[in-house]
Amino acid sequence: MTDAPSLDTLATAGTDAPVVTLAARPTHPASSPEAAWWRHAVIYQIYPRSWADGNGDGIGDLPGITARLPYLRDLGVDAIWLSPFYTSPQADAGYDVADYCDIDPLFGSLADADAMLARAHMLGIKVIVDLVPNHSSDEHAWFKAALAAGPGSPERERYMFRDGLGEHGELPPNNWDSVFGGPAWTRTTNPDGTPGQWYLHLFDPKQPDFNWDHPDVRAEFEQILTFWLDRGVDGFRVDVAHGLIKEDGLPDWEEALEMLGGTDDEHTDGRRPPMWDQDRVHEIYQRWREILNAYNPVEDPDSHDVNRDRILCAEAWVNPVERAVRYIRDDEMHQAFNFDFLQTAWAAADLRAVVEASFAAADSVGAPTTWVLSNHDVVRHASRLGLPVGTKRPNGIGVGDPQPDAELGLQRARAATALMLALPGSSYLYQGEELGLPDSTDMPDEFRQDPTWERSGHTERGRDGCRVPIPWEADRPSFGFGPSDSTWLPQPSVYGRYAVDQQVGVEGSTLELYRALLTSRRTLDLGVGALTWVEGYGDDVVAFVNSGVEADGVRTLVVANLGPAPVALPEGAQLILASGPLGQDGTVPTDTTVWARF
Ligand code: NOJ
Ligand code: CA
Repeated sequence: MTDAPSLDTLATAGTDAPVVTLAARPTHPASSPEAAWWRHAVIYQIYPRSWADGNGDGIGDLPGITARLPYLRDLGVDAIWLSPFYTSPQADAGYDVADYCDIDPLFGSLADADAMLARAHMLGIKVIVDLVPNHSSDEHAWFKAALAAGPGSPERERYMFRDGLGEHGELPPNNWDSVFGGPAWTRTTNPDGTPGQWYLHLFDPKQPDFNWDHPDVRAEFEQILTFWLDRGVDGFRVDVAHGLIKEDGLPDWEEALEMLGGTDDEHTDGRRPPMWDQDRVHEIYQRWREILNAYNPVEDPDSHDVNRDRILCAEAWVNPVERAVRYIRDDEMHQAFNFDFLQTAWAAADLRAVVEASFAAADSVGAPTTWVLSNHDVVRHASRLGLPVGTKRPNGIGVGDPQPDAELGLQRARAATALMLALPGSSYLYQGEELGLPDSTDMPDEFRQDPTWERSGHTERGRDGCRVPIPWEADRPSFGFGPSDSTWLPQPSVYGRYAVDQQVGVEGSTLELYRALLTSRRTLDLGVGALTWVEGYGDDVVAFVNSGVEADGVRTLVVANLGPAPVALPEGAQLILASGPLGQDGTVPTDTTVWARF
């Protein structure tokens, strides 16, 4: 093994190379190498509609997923998270659940879910399912009963029904807008045909919000958790976790609600949004944690198996980060998505700052940090990073919009992922990003299905561009997505080039890069390592050391160069991998990340 340079100074090669040094103390301490799986897991998000279609109807399904699981074992992920597959009219692609304990026929049956779980576990992959507690579908039995029973009935108490304002109740109960655009209230029609009460829906009118002050709602969700835990799931991703409790009196709120938008009170005279992040929401998750813990009791550390923990991950768009980490205190959820990282511009100072702040906040509550760059709600990072730095994150890109630079976007996306996967903590990947897949950015608008497009009066294109079915084999119908050529959203012709079979075993392909990243991350224990900044590279570089296996004297140096000039590696550093080709003199070019051993 090469002698490692001193901890204090890493001499860089070449006469004009900067002298770089390690910061005096780590920004984040190492965890035990035996830390629970969720503290360092790489979790791959499957969007079931769009991953693999088993029966050729153009919509992905559970048998399709089960058949393709070996691909994920070979990729090297620890777990999958599946977006909803429950019975649903699909008004918001399944985030409108009509029956939480059954599978929509589009996706298969409960037996198919059991088979998928068993196969994943056999392959060593954990399975996290999506839980949607803020709202149900308007076709849920409880909501139908509430409409039928009429005002004042106990059935209505389980949702947020209110009388309208105005002389005849013709105005909504408050001024809230929905996240998808338009008012957050819809007026009902009474059983006798007269105009009736209004109900609250923070999202689509087909997604009525539950009343979480009602004991039936709490009991029902505890039963739903148990139903899936008993079937063997390893955890839940909790949709809109910050939305369940609303401020008493439902006071007016002038600000628009945005997906992933935070709760900062900067522009709102110190007021916090009355629909998000209310203190009382935490008691719900404390109760859920007790339920999950009962499946792998923590009281006796000798019998507690850290590999069998069942977990909760919060989708909570909460600022500042000090409030966000309240969801991951040790008696609540295990993880929360770090959307600050996803939303950070491709600028070294901003990235350093968000990494620093993320660790400070998560470490303050003893929770792992998570990292994510793409999911089913945002423009894929291979496209997002191809827009000029500083562009506001668009809600979809379509015909007539400024188009991303695909080549630049991919190069930056690969560098961003290599940076992310070197960070201690748990990382989320979104299906297709391992192929370097761009969004569909010129989808004709008539194909759009995201309710955002209609509800925003065609001002926001919405999320269809990142939800297009995955290309598996370039020369097959639907690029191998399924046995037929039908796909629920059109695949751009360029997707053939990104197909899995075009990348497997191909040196330099994005798929092989991801495989190498995941293999090395595991061997080097990066997920549980300590992070210490490397100083001296200047403003345009993010550089740190991850001491994953310090006991063995091996440390991993990570250098992400976002600046215009190439940068040198310290003397003695041995390249492990790079997100793109290095300069002939071994330097790290613009928009490239390297991992090196020293
Ligand atoms: C967040 C989900 O990720 C998104 O897809 C969905 O539309 C909303 N929550 C509403 O459930
Ligand atoms: Ca299908």
